Amino acid sequence: MSLLKFACASLFSLTLAQAAVAADCAADSSHGAQIFNTECGVCHAVKKDVTGMMGPNLNGVIGRKSGSLAGFSYSQAMRSKDVTWQAETIAELITQPQAYVPGTYMPYMGLASKDDREAVVCFLKSKEAL
Ligand code: HEC
Repeated sequence: MSLLKFACASLFSLTLAQAAVAADCAADSSHGAQIFNTECGVCHAVKKDVTGMMGPNLNGVIGRKSGSLAGFSYSQAMRSKDVTWQAETIAELITQPQAYVPGTYMPYMGLASKDDREAVVCFLKSKEAL
């Protein structure tokens, strides 16, 4: 009985630990890379200093203020959005860009799967200093 209790307790803490790992993105980001390539890469680069894409470069986007990358022509909507891009705010943006930033130039319908949104954010976090 006590062994069973122990087993349950450790299973529970394992689940919590896994959730924490997912939240800080210690997990492998290859799924995120794949999502990025199919969903975002046509308009965004993550490699440092790549310009000329339709969307702003997303290298180091975590912690950046919305609409603030020098040299990129943002919509007025994005410039006045006034958020800092973190996992949560990016996840909200890519759920439904036009709802989160009405009037945005980002012509993207949104990423329906929560898992995919988290994976792509983890991928972006891994590109903070590329
Ligand atoms: C069809 C082109 C296109 C696609 C696809 C696209 N974006 Fe964008 N994205 C843009 C454009 C254009 C902007 C600038 C929007 C504005 O100025 O209103 C933008 C802005 C952003 C911003 C704000 C950056 C900043 O500097 O403030 C983030 C974050 C972002 N996109 C993430 C993503 C992610 C993640 C995906 C994939 C899930 C994605 N985008 C898919 C075109 C795109």
